[in-house]
Amino acid sequence: MDLEIKSSPHLGYWIKNNLDYAMKIKNICCIGAGYVGGPTMAVIALKCPDIKVTVVDKDSFKIERWNGEYQNLPVYEPGLADIIKKTRGKNLFFSSEIDKSIDDAEMIFMAVNTPTKTEGKGAGMAADLRHVENCAKNIARVAKNDKIIVEKSTLPVRTAEKIKEILSNYKSDVNFEIISNPEFLAEGTAIKDLFKSDRVLIGGEKTDSGEKAVEALEKIYKRWIPNEKIIKMNVWSAELSKLASNAMLAQRISSINSLSAICEKTGADIDELSNAIGLDHRIGSKFLKASVGFGGSCFKKDILNLVYLCKYYGLNEVAEYWHQVIKINEYQKSRFANRIIDELGGNVKNKKIAILGWAFKKNTNDSRESASIKIADKLIESGGHINIYDPMVKESKIKEDLNNIWGSKSKSEKDLSSRFLRVEIFDNYKDAIKETHALAIITEWDEFKEINFQLVNQITNNNPKIFDGRLILEESNYRIGK
Ligand code: NAD
Ligand code: UGA
Repeated sequence: MDLEIKSSPHLGYWIKNNLDYAMKIKNICCIGAGYVGGPTMAVIALKCPDIKVTVVDKDSFKIERWNGEYQNLPVYEPGLADIIKKTRGKNLFFSSEIDKSIDDAEMIFMAVNTPTKTEGKGAGMAADLRHVENCAKNIARVAKNDKIIVEKSTLPVRTAEKIKEILSNYKSDVNFEIISNPEFLAEGTAIKDLFKSDRVLIGGEKTDSGEKAVEALEKIYKRWIPNEKIIKMNVWSAELSKLASNAMLAQRISSINSLSAICEKTGADIDELSNAIGLDHRIGSKFLKASVGFGGSCFKKDILNLVYLCKYYGLNEVAEYWHQVIKINEYQKSRFANRIIDELGGNVKNKKIAILGWAFKKNTNDSRESASIKIADKLIESGGHINIYDPMVKESKIKEDLNNIWGSKSKSEKDLSSRFLRVEIFDNYKDAIKETHALAIITEWDEFKEINFQLVNQITNNNPKIFDGRLILEESNYRIGK
C-alpha cells in the first residue's frame, strides 16, 4: 500500500475561491448505477428537487434498464420504483455519458463495486480497487474545475489518500476534495434505511477546504436526516467505521449460527436462545436470527478486507479473530447441505431436492454470495438433482451464478453440461416441489411461510422431507438449531 500523497500547489487559490462552496451544489454525478448508486441517488433526487442528479455507469444495458419499465429496473427494492416514477426525467437521470456528467457536476459520488481481488498481491482477501482507480483517472482526465469527490463505495482505510494521489498525478490544475460517506443501507430495506438512517457519517480533512466540502454534503443530508444523526469525523475513522460495522453485524450472525450447532446436539432451541440473549438490552435482539449462513455482496468481502488490513499492519491475532467469522459462515452452509444429504440416507445420487429461494435474503433480486449457491453446488457434487425457485432472481442470473462456480471446476464442457442437466428452474414453488425427495428453504420469502406437511402432501406424491434453513415454518423435518 502506497500511502504517500502529494500536496497541490493550487490549494490556497482553491480555498479562497470556494468559501461559499456549500451553497453551490446544483449538479451531482454518481458513478455506479448498482444496488447503492441507484437507490441512494433516487432518494437524494427526491429530497433535493433543486439538484440535478445524474447516475452514470459503464454498463449501458443497465442504464437502459434504469430508463426502461418500472417493473424491470435493474435493482428490485420495495418503494424504489415509486420514487423513480416521481423523479426520473425531472431531476434524476440515468446516463451512459460519463464524461459529460463528471464535467457538469460539482459533487461526484463514487458508488462502484469493490470486490475481493482475484489476482495479484492480496488476491482472495484485499479489496480490488481497480474500479475506484479507474473512476479517479476518469475524473482527473475530464474535470475542468474543482470537484468534491464522495467515497460511497466501501473502501479500505486510507483509500482517500490513494484517490487523491491519482487525481493529483493526473491533474494538478484542478482541486479535488475527497470525503468519505460510507453507505449503511441493507438490501430489501434500502429505501426505508435511506429515509431513516441510524447515522450518516461524513469524514473529511480538517482543513478549510475539507470542512467546506463536508459542509456541502451535510447540507444535502440535512434536508431529511436530523442533525444529531449526521456525524462528522476524520476520513480514516469514516472508512474504518464501515468495515467495522459490517464485521460486527456478521459476527453476531456467526455467533448465533455457531450456537445453533450446539443446540442441535443438546436439545436446546436456537429461537429460545436468541430471544433470551436478545432481551438483555446490552446485547439487543437484532441480527440474532440463526440461518443457513449470511450471504450478500459485502459481509464476506468486507471482513476479508479487514483481515487483510490487520495482516498488513502485523496484527495477526486480530486478523485471525475476524477470519473466524467467515469460517463459521462457510461451516454453517456446509453443515446445512450435509444435513440434507444425511437425512436422505447419506446419499442423494439421483434424488431430487427443491431449493426454495435463491436471493441472499428476502425482498431483493440480489444473489451475490447467497448460501443457495454453495448448497446447490454441494448437492450437485454429491450426485443429486435440484429444482430451483425464487420469486425475484431471474433464471439467467441463477444460471450465471452456477456457471461461475462450475465453469472453473468442470473438467470439460461435457462435465459442465452434465451438471446443468441436473438443474431445473421453476417459476413457482408448487411446481418446484413436485416429485422431490426434499425441499429446503434457503431464503425467507413470505410466500414460503404457508408451507406445511399437509400442503406439501397435497401437491406431491413423494412425501418429501422439509428442511427449514430460515426458521420460518411452523413444521418441518429439520430446522436449523432445533
Ligand atoms: P454494484 O455492482 O451493484 O454496482 C456497481 C456499478 O458500478 C456497476 O453497475 C458497474 O458497472 C459500475 N462501475 C464500475 N466501474 C465503473 C466505472 N469505472 N465507470 C462507470 N461505472 C462503473 O455494486 P453495489 O452493490 O452498488 O456496491 C457498490 C459499493 O457500495 C461497494 O463498495 C459496496 O461494498 C458498497 N455497499 C454496498 C451495499 C449493498 O447493499 N449492495 C451497501 C453498502 C455499501
Ligand atoms: C449489510 C448491512 O446490514 C448493511 O448495513 C450494509 O450497508 C450492507 O451489508 C453492505 O455494506 O453491503 P445486506 O447484506 O444488504 O446489508 O443485508 P443484511 O440484512 O445485513 O443481511 C445479510 C445476510 O445476513 C443475509 O443473508 C441475511 O439473511 C443474513 N442474516 C441477517 C442472518 O442470517 N441473520 C440475521 O439475524 C440477520
